[in-house]
This record gives sequence, C-alpha cells and structure tokens, in this order.
Amino acid sequence: MEEHRESRSSRNSLVFAVNGERFDVSSVDPSTTLLEFLRSHTRFKSVKLSCGEGGCGACLVLLSKYNPELDQVDDFTVSSCLTLLCSVNGCSITTTEGLGNSKVGFHPIHQRFAGFHASQCGFCTPGMCVSLFSALVNAEKRHRPQPPPGFSKLTVSEAEKAIAGNLCRCTGYRSVVDACKSFAADVDMEDLGFNAFWGKQESKEVKISRLPLWKRNDQICTFPEFLKKENKSAAFLDLERCCWLSPVSIPELQSLLENADNNQYSVKLVVGNTGMGYYKEVEHFDKYIDIRHIPELSFIRRDQTGIEIGATVTISKAIEALKEQDEGDFHSEGVMVFKKIADHMEKIATRSIRNSASVGGNLVMAQRNNFPSDISTILLSVDAVITVMTGHKCEKLMLEEFLESSPLDAKSVLISFKIPYWDPCRNITSETNSIILFETYRAALRPLGNALPHLNAAFLAEISPSEMGDGIKINSCQLAFGAYGTRHAIRARKVEDFLIGKVLNFSVLYEAIKLLEAFVVPEDGTSSPAFRSSLAVGFLFQFLGFLAEVETEISSAQVDGYSNTMLLKALKMKQNDDQFDQTKFPTLLSSAKQVLELSRKYYPVGEPIIKSGAALQASGEAVYVDDIPSPANCLYGAFVCSTKPLARIKGIEFKSKSATHGVSALISYKEIPDGGANVGSKTIFGAEPLFADELTRYAGQRVAFVVADTQKNADRAANLAVVDYDMENLEPPILSVEEAVERSSFFEVPPIFSPKQVGDILKGMDEADHKILSAEIKLGSQYYFYMETQTALAVPDEDNCMVVYSSIQCPEFAHATIARCLGIPEHNVRVITRRVGGGFGGKAIKAMPVATACALAAYKLCRPVRIYVNRKTDMIMAGGRHPMKITYSVGFKSNGKIMALQLKILIDAGLSADISPIMPRNMMCTLKKYDWGALHFDIKVCRTNLPNRSAMRAPGEVQASFIAEAVIEHVASTLSMEVDSVRNINLHTYNSLNLFYEGCAGELMEYTLPSIWDKLSLSSSFKQRTEMIKEFNRSNLWRKKGISRVPIVHEVTVRPTPGKVSILSDASVVVEVGGIELGQGLWTKAKQMAAFALSSILCGGTVDLLEKVRVVQTDTLSLIQGGFTAGSTTSESSCEAIRLCCNILVERLTPIRERLLEQMGSINWETLIQQAYMQAVNLSANTLFVPDLSSMLYLNYGAAVSEVEVNLLTGETTILRSDIVYDCGQSLNPAVDLGQIEGAFVQGIGFFMFEEYPTNSDGLVVSEGSWTYKIPTVDTIPKKFNVEILNSGHHRNRVLSSKASGEPPLLLAVSVHCATRAAIREARQQLQSWNKSKGFDSTFNLEVPATMPIVKELCGLDYVEMYLQWRINGRK
Ligand SMILES: Cc1cc2nc3c(=O)[nH]c(=O)nc-3n(C[C@H](O)[C@H](O)[C@H](O)COP(=O)(O)OP(=O)(O)OC[C@H]3O[C@@H](n4cnc5c(N)ncnc54)[C@H](O)[C@@H]3O)c2cc1C
Ligand code: FES
Ligand code: FES
Repeated sequence: MEEHRESRSSRNSLVFAVNGERFDVSSVDPSTTLLEFLRSHTRFKSVKLSCGEGGCGACLVLLSKYNPELDQVDDFTVSSCLTLLCSVNGCSITTTEGLGNSKVGFHPIHQRFAGFHASQCGFCTPGMCVSLFSALVNAEKRHRPQPPPGFSKLTVSEAEKAIAGNLCRCTGYRSVVDACKSFAADVDMEDLGFNAFWGKQESKEVKISRLPLWKRNDQICTFPEFLKKENKSAAFLDLERCCWLSPVSIPELQSLLENADNNQYSVKLVVGNTGMGYYKEVEHFDKYIDIRHIPELSFIRRDQTGIEIGATVTISKAIEALKEQDEGDFHSEGVMVFKKIADHMEKIATRSIRNSASVGGNLVMAQRNNFPSDISTILLSVDAVITVMTGHKCEKLMLEEFLESSPLDAKSVLISFKIPYWDPCRNITSETNSIILFETYRAALRPLGNALPHLNAAFLAEISPSEMGDGIKINSCQLAFGAYGTRHAIRARKVEDFLIGKVLNFSVLYEAIKLLEAFVVPEDGTSSPAFRSSLAVGFLFQFLGFLAEVETEISSAQVDGYSNTMLLKALKMKQNDDQFDQTKFPTLLSSAKQVLELSRKYYPVGEPIIKSGAALQASGEAVYVDDIPSPANCLYGAFVCSTKPLARIKGIEFKSKSATHGVSALISYKEIPDGGANVGSKTIFGAEPLFADELTRYAGQRVAFVVADTQKNADRAANLAVVDYDMENLEPPILSVEEAVERSSFFEVPPIFSPKQVGDILKGMDEADHKILSAEIKLGSQYYFYMETQTALAVPDEDNCMVVYSSIQCPEFAHATIARCLGIPEHNVRVITRRVGGGFGGKAIKAMPVATACALAAYKLCRPVRIYVNRKTDMIMAGGRHPMKITYSVGFKSNGKIMALQLKILIDAGLSADISPIMPRNMMCTLKKYDWGALHFDIKVCRTNLPNRSAMRAPGEVQASFIAEAVIEHVASTLSMEVDSVRNINLHTYNSLNLFYEGCAGELMEYTLPSIWDKLSLSSSFKQRTEMIKEFNRSNLWRKKGISRVPIVHEVTVRPTPGKVSILSDASVVVEVGGIELGQGLWTKAKQMAAFALSSILCGGTVDLLEKVRVVQTDTLSLIQGGFTAGSTTSESSCEAIRLCCNILVERLTPIRERLLEQMGSINWETLIQQAYMQAVNLSANTLFVPDLSSMLYLNYGAAVSEVEVNLLTGETTILRSDIVYDCGQSLNPAVDLGQIEGAFVQGIGFFMFEEYPTNSDGLVVSEGSWTYKIPTVDTIPKKFNVEILNSGHHRNRVLSSKASGEPPLLLAVSVHCATRAAIREARQQLQSWNKSKGFDSTFNLEVPATMPIVKELCGLDYVEMYLQWRINGRK
C-alpha cells in the first residue's frame, strides 16, 4: 500500500468539478448522495429527485473520470440519487445546465428536445438530455467513419437506446426518440417525426440545415484542465474526518477491517452504492470503506483458461470485457458463451446503474441478502469460480458453494470471479463432433431491462449426434435458475442427471420437464408461483425442444452423407433463428407517422409552435417548487401514515433515540390553532381531515407531520415512527365494496351527477335472442406516477399571513383549505404555482393536504416549512384511480345487435368523498359510446375504510370504456362472431347518439366517429392485416397475434375560468390564467390566443406579438376563482377567458388607434401602447369566462387499431403497432395536442397492461416505488405508432372550433387490451386442438392490467406439457 501512497500526496478534502466549477468539500456525512449535494449546495437544480432508487433517470449526471497515465477521460452517466458524494472525488460532473442555457445559448440537445416537442411537464427532460449527451460524447470516441456535417457518430439504434433507462410519464416517448435520433449519422430524415424545424414538403438538405447545428468539434469539455492537474499531483483521498476510507491495497484494507474489529466500530464496504436503491438501509455505519481503488479488486485478466474479473469492476466494464474477446484467441464457442453472458448483463438495471454497479456487489447482494440477481444465475450455469478473502485468508470457491454458504459477514471481501473458457474439447468429457449450446433467459416486464425478472435461467449443454444415429445426445448439461422466489440461484441437478446421456426426444423432454416442475417451486409468499414455474418449463423447452424435433433430420443427414458436425452447426443456427427468439422484434420504436392538418385561420392560434418553456425545461433552468431555494431557517416535513384501517391512536413514538436527530416538532390534529379546523382538502362534496384524530380510519391516513432540520432527517424520523394502536371494541373496518353494500355505507350522489337511464330495459331484454346474465368484472387502481412527487413550501409573512408555493392543479381550493385550517381569513393566504412536474389528477385534491400541513407547521413554528414527499409515502397517500366491481346483464340479437344492457357498479371511493360522486356521471358519459338499445344502471359510490380515491386522468371514463368493450367482446364470443362486426353494428347512428347524449350530441356534421372509423380502417389496413394475422396464427405454434379496432365517444364539460391580460409600458404583454401548466401546453395555447386576439386591433407590429407575450405563475390573490385544472378543457376555457380580456383591451384601444390613424396614417403596436399609457387607458383586463349552458358539454371522438403479439411460453405481450385517428376540431396547437394524444395513449397502455397498485389485507399500499410499479418505457410502447389528428373544421360552440385532447385518447389504449385478448383466444383454441378433452372457452375474462402472469395463465400454464403430450401421442 505504502508504495502506492508514497508516489502521490494525499488530500483531506473532496475536490471535484460540477459543470467546470471547482468544489472543495472538507466535511460531509459519508452517506450524502451526489444528488443531495447538488440540489442543496449548488445552483444546479436540474438533477431531479423522482424515485430515489435508481429506477427513473431523472437524476442522471455525466460523470467523467480522468486517467493521468493514459491521459484519457472516461465519460458515463450515473444516477446521482445513489452515487455517494465522497465517491466522486477527482471527478467531473456535467449536468444539463453545463451544456448551455438561456443566457449563453441553448445546446442543440436542448433545442432539439424543444423542437421535436419532446418535453411536456419537463421533469424528466434534464435526465433525458444527459443520457443523450453521454451517448453522443461516447459515440464520438469510437473509430467510425466521419458522419455528415451536423450529425454525430451515433447510430439510430444507439440513439434510441440512449434513453432506455429514463422514465417519462407525459410524452409517450415517441417524440423523445425522434429528438435523439435526429443526431444519428444513419438517420433517415423521413423517419423523423413532426417538429418545429421543417415542413413536410421540404428537401432533405433543407431539413438538415434547419436542425440546430451539432458541431462535433465544438464539444463541451467534460473534464476541466485544472482538475486534471490536481489529479496528477494528488489523488488519494484521506477523508478520515468524513469517515470515508479509500484503501489502495489489500493489506491496507485488511488492516482497516481488523481495526474495525478491534475497536468495535461498524464499517460498510462500498463500491457503486447502487445496492441502496433496493435495500434502502437506514442502518448507520461508523465508517465507509471505498474498495474501488484496490488493484487486486479491479483487474480484468484473460488467459487460455478463462476470464477473471475483479469484484469492483462495474457491470458496464465487465460487459465490454466479455464482448471484447478476440475470436482469434479462443475457440468460437467459448467466445459465444462470453458474448451471451454480456448480452444478458445488458438487460440488468439501466445503463446508468450498470456504469457504477459492480459485479461483486451484485454477487454479494445475492449471497447475503437473497437479491434476485441475474448475474449469479448466469455465472452459476458456467461453473464460475470466485475468490473470497476473510481476514488474511483467500479462498477459491465454486459459485454454487459460495451461494449456499452462510451469509457473508461484513468483514469478508469478495475479490474476484472467474468464468472458465468453454470448449467442448477441453472442458467436458470430450466427444468428437460435439458442440456447446448456451443460452440465457429472463422473463421481465420490460424487454430492455430496468425490471427485475420473474425468473431467470441460463443453460449450458454439450450435445452430439447419438452413436445409434437416432437423435441428439446430451453429453452434459448445467441448468441454472434464479430470481423466482428462491433464496439464491440454483442448479436443477435432478433434471441435469436425468438428461445426461439421453438421446433427446419428446418423451425424454416431457419427463425432464415434469422433474423441473417439481423442482422450481417458489417460496411461500412469492407472487404468481405457478406462472414462475411455467416460465422455467418454457425456457427449458425453448432450449432443448428443437433438438427433439430432429430425429428425422439426423437419419436423413446420414443417408445424404452430411457430416454430423455440419448437421450440428445447422442445428445451432436453427436454434439461434428459432421461432421463440424475442430479439426478432425490434426492441424499440421502429417507425411512427404523424398526420396533422394545419390551419392558419386564427394565426398564430393553430400553429404547432414549440411549447412555452420547453428549452428551459431541457436546460434545467425551469423552476419547480422544490427548486426554489430554501429560505433562511427553513424546516422540512414528512408524513407519518397509519398502517391500520380502523384503530384508536394511543400515541406515537420513535424506534430509537437517534431517529429524532434534527427533529423540531411532531404535528398532529392537536396542533390545529383555535379557530382553525382539521381540514386537509375540500371539494364541492365536502372536506377531508388533514390528520386522523383519535381514530385512524384507513391505512395510509396521515397521522402526523414530523418537522426536522433536513428532508433526510424528517424522512428518517417518519420512517422510524411507531404508532401505538388500540382496536378494542371497534367495529370491523369496511374493506370491500361488498361489505359497504352490506352495511349501506355509500356517498350520496347529487342529482346533477346522476346520469339518466336510457330506454326500456325490460322491453330490450324481451326482444333479445340471447342473454348473458350477471357477468362480473373487477377493476383495480392505478397510481399517477408523476415524476415530481407532491411538494410544497410555506413561508410565514407579516400580520399572520402565509405564502405557500405548491405543485397543485387547484390552488384556489388549497388557498381556502389553508385559511380554514389555520383559522385566518382567506386574504391572509397566497398560493403560488408556477409549474407542476406532472399531475394527471393526482395533484388536484391530493396536493391540498401537503400544502396545508406545511402551512400549519410554518404557522405553528413561525418558520418556513417545506416538503418533498418521498416516493414511497406518495404512493401510500395517493389513492389513485377508483377500483370497482361491475355486474352486467346484456340482451342481444343473433346478428350481434345489442338490445339492452343493465349494469350494477360498486365503486370503491375510500373514506372521504373527494370527487367520487362525479364518477357515475363520468362513467356513463363514456359507456354510452355504443347504442345499447336500452341502458339501465345502478351505481353505488361506496364509502370504505380504504385510501381515498381521487381523479386520475379520465376518471371513471377509462373504466367505462373498458366495460363497454368487455361487453362487446363477451357478446361476440357468445355468438362466435368477429368482434369488429359486433362493434360495427352497435356504433351509434346520429339519432341514437342524440338519444344517449341528450343535449350534447352537437350537429350532425360534428358526429365524426363514423368517418373516423372508416378512415382508420383504410389508413391502418385493418382488413388486410386481420387476414394476415389469421395466416400468421395458423403457421406459428408459439406466438399468436391479435388485432382490434375500438371507438371512443368522450363527453367533456367546459367550466368557468378566469383570465387576466395586462399590457406593460414597453408594449409587452403579461397573461394570467386560472389554469395551471402541468405539461399539457396550456401556457403555449394561452400565448397564442393572446397574440391572436390582440392582433385584431389591426396595427403594425402585431405579427410578432407572440414573442411579446408571457404567461406568468398563478397567484391566488392576483387572480381568484381559478378552479380546477382538470377535465381536458382548462386550456380552451383559459384561452377563451384570455380572448375575452383581449377583446376588452382592443375595445379600449380602438378609439386611440383610430385617432392616431387619422393623424398619422399608420400606427404600430408600440406607439399605440405608449399613447394609451399617456392617456391613462386601463391596460389591464380581467374576466371570468362562464360558458353558455347550452354549449358547456360536448363530445369528442376517436378510434384506434392495435396489433399485438403474445409469446405463449412467457405471456409477454409486444405491441406491434397502434394507429390512432382523433378529432381535435380545429386544434389550437397541433403539436401540443399530438403530444397529449400520444402521452395519454401510452399512459392508458400502462393502465391496461402493466400497472399494478396492490394493497395488503388492511388496504395499505404495498407497491413502494419504481421496483414494483412499472409504467411504460420506451421499449414497451407500440413498435409502430401512427397518429392522425383530424381537423374537423368549424364547430360553432367551441373555442375557435377547437376540441379537447388531454384525456379522451387515454381510453383508446383499451384497443391494446382487446388485441391481447384476441391473441390469447387463438392460443386457447390451439391448445384445445391438441387436447380435445379440454374444451374451448372463448368467453374468458382478461383482467386489467393484463400483465405477463395473467396472459400466460390464460394461454395455459401447461402449454408446453400439452404440446409434448400431443407430439408423444403422434399429433392426434
Ligand atoms: C434500479 C436497479 C435495478 C437493478 N436491476 C437488476 C437486475 O435486473 N438484475 C440484477 O441482477 N441486478 C439488478 N440490480 C442490482 C445491481 O446489479 C446491484 O445493485 C449492483 O451490482 C451492486 O453493486 P454496487 O457496486 O453498487 O454495490 P454496493 O451497493 O456498493 O454494495 C452492495 C453490498 O455489497 C457489499 N459489497 C460490495 N462489494 C463487495 C465486495 N467486493 N466484497 C464484500 N462485500 C461487498 C456492500 O457492502 C453492500 O452491502 C439493480 C440495481 C438497481 C439500483
Ligand atoms: S431519482 Fe435517481 S434514478 Fe430516479
Ligand atoms: S415530460 Fe417526461 S415526465 Fe413529464
């Protein structure tokens, strides 16, 4: 060690650079993350906290390391939420602010993100920009041909993958992919989507010239010179003071560990610290030992016996090393094994995690904490050997022994692992003509990673033609399985023993699989155990099944004189190219088309202008609530939530004394001031308490608010708070809608929210030829997963006033709630909201208690108090979509025409009313999309002891859309009809539309659904593809496709909205609106409307008025009656309010204009305003737009066709293509509306296919973050994604003929679910053809979400077994 230390001096403070600025930190808590430091100690706030566990990419930074020996800089992304600050010593960090900004000029990445409309709420955008920047920087380092000017060396495929680990909840990813691809040298300009840079007809050259120029020679320096110099002179960090130790040799490490032992202090070995993302240890360690600088742990060594990799080598570096194997050095089969291991490793976590996560850390987590590791499974199958050091002793162990031994103690160190080189002639009992087969598998929700597997497996086998010439013999095999609910990865020895020496045929395979089924049994408590076992069977079949098919080929090869070696090679190729191969799909978006018809009638309204603030969002300058610097003396809060559904609260204590470190107060309902009230939120249906009082009434209810000196301390204390409950003599809680019915526990639905029944149900049922009676459906909840969690900052002001910055969709209501809670007049409160990092309904009612709790704490403590709710608490408190139970009876004719539909719906609303009483109306407005003949319903909004449900994008409407399709599907399968024909026959005529949507159906020409329906059929080639799919399904055993076309009719309500427009003395314009900018482009449309309406003054200089308009944050004292930003219509009503204000101003300005025109002959805008100022004209106008009763309600139309493919072995569903046609009226901004349509559709895919939001038996949410809650990612959206925005022309009663786009398209995602159902039906039909005794039930119920386990279960968990039996029985 000393020789290492001697040559260079040590440093006792951390030195690193952020965006070229030097930082020197001499004292820091070693558990501080880079994210915490950047956000609280620097001005670089672009790094966002979203999940805090490595799963979302919002916090990404580029980390650059300098190697003085090679004079080389290594640049890679890392998740700053997991990277420990002490570990970045000597490094340079680049955030998106480092690339450019509004003052010195935006970087082309920022400009292209803005221009491709790839940023909506913008909370994910800085992380996306950093991911792309890293990909560009690294592509430039590759030895590739020079790209054309303006392009980088990046390829399209790399560009798409660049953001594979980043989550976005708004855009639906297509636009983001286009922004990334625009840099790729091999991009076809025609493939790039709709953008603000060029028009459709322009030539390729013009298009290229319009892109913000990416100058490769002008690159940002990622590593400043001063830091290179400092690194050369002093590299070793001696941060004893920070309890951060960085040994540089094994002896030094040994002595540190010994010291710890002798002096009885706790130490933690740390490499990438990504393990914290999973385990979130709250345990305190006295010292951290960073083992990355020990050469014996960080080497990569290759020789003829294999490749040995040090434990601290990152997964990314290990992948590189495994891929780098020179084919010349080794036999190609050994190389193949390494490459496949590397391919599998590329699906672990995300690139940014792999860049810092070590292979050794993964193996230790697998061994010590039973982590469901991929690495341990794949290494187990290849007989990896590991080296472990305990004390001064080093030991080599087979990985299997290591995994099976007792958990590694804190003082043992994993040194390295070695993968032997696999060559049939060397490693296995040598057989001539034998070959090695090696495959790895993982079944996970996301194909490209960032999702733990349900099961992983890796198989290695040596095979050769049997001596008897009757097939392929297995000479040896190693079968490893893991992550399925087992303590660690294991070898299926019994199955291996059974197979070895056997000639493979269907019977042998069947027996092997039976043995395997008995072996892969997940531990108790594991979710979907049977599914996981079936995955094991499926993978083994995929690995060996094709060999059982070759008996005949072997014999004919011998007859034909082919050598067996040739045959084996051919077999291998066949395996690589087999029908199960998932990589055959393009893993990412392969093409997308956007058709938009622009209109200049109301210029600049209707222009697809860039979203206001998009570039600022990309450069990280956009300020969200948590980016506002903390005022002096600021405190931080965290909620303590109940875990019981109904219990008395006896008290709250903390698990340990250290838990209260930094805590100033624990605030509960008792702290509500005299004159105030225990209210946390209010709606027109009532109020909800801020805190539970003596009783907690649902699990997840807020019980108290811990206030501490830092957010970390507040969170830790809240986490360690223990509530003492008493349940004696309490009635049992109501934990289901059925119990609510039994106990008549309902919310009242006011008559205006009670929809009307249609027609005569008895008559309809009487006229029906067939009936389905009392069919049942259940629907679960969905979590918002906005990227910015709930947040607020409350600052006390003079004279008992309170200013609250809140990320909220309805500041007006928070304002009133805060005043009521504190018992002060409303004029003492001011709520300010600038922008919201994603809302989707979740920041309407649910943001109020967050703001109110901060205000209460600030009021009590007379200090500013803020909170940034952590993801887990946010998920527990959010409530989400309404779960429900539906029972329906339907009567229909033999031709599929439905005559009557009767529904009973029980909605679980939770404890408080929230907005739940609107649900019946919302649901029926969408359910009426078909002509049901007669429609009767009984909807009960149940009050339960479960979390309060709230509005989530298309509340009730998305469920109703699903119910309608489920009924249609049920009718079609009962009649054995094509579902599409049943849809067709039940679509509304204009007459039936009027009957069902009395008073809001509009004029005949406005009913565009029939034309959309036909248009979509043509543009998506629906009929041809339906036929092609039938053919595909006939000829593919293991993959089935389905296609489905669905319509939507979606009613929206326009609500009163205020607006204010003021013209300043320099003729610039400031606009205030009641609506909140959530990413939906409200400000952009508002700007356009102000420019349009003011330009009606008809004077010079109004052409560029758009540039002069600024929309400013909402301030509840400046503009009152802001209401809710919800229901898809706030943009248009805000625009209308602005138009009215502008009209007032124009009216006031007109006399001056006319006078000046007379005097001067012409007049420009600036002069007009100057004159108006001189003449004391009131240049501020405000209004409350109140829609006409007759035009408040209107209908939106759209349709979608989706095609999916289901893998019958795993249940994986791939969305091959979605086509959408949506009527936006005359869009106010087609670019914004396109973003809404794509984003909503993808959020709908999440609801229908992926997102499970489970609770325990007490109703407490148990999905705690990005590990378990899986929103769609770029690899799970449709591979082809085409959207057409229909411009349906003039609409008399609409705002400049425009229509809504925010929510309705979400409903169209039901097409994906229906297509999946169609594919499953094919699978079941095939299964029935193999096993006639099984019977074919086409009326199965496909749950929502249709996750892998559910799809697989419906296809048949025993699919492989059935197939094998069928083959064994001679395909009878
Ligand atoms: C978002 C995310 C997704 C992931 N997805 C997957 C996945 O799909 N599949 C998969 O297999 N893994 C996955 N992982 C796990 C990931 O591979 C591990 O977190 C990582 O490899 C751990 O390495 P590290 O260097 O960060 O370890 P650290 O976090 O630094 O350490 C982890 C633990 O191991 C100990 N330790 C580390 N090195 C040694 C050593 N040499 N000797 C003794 N003890 C040691 C540490 O003390 C600590 O207790 C994921 C992780 C994240 C954060
Ligand atoms: S906040 Fe770091 S990855 Fe999500
Ligand atoms: S724009 Fe991506 S999360 Fe909002």
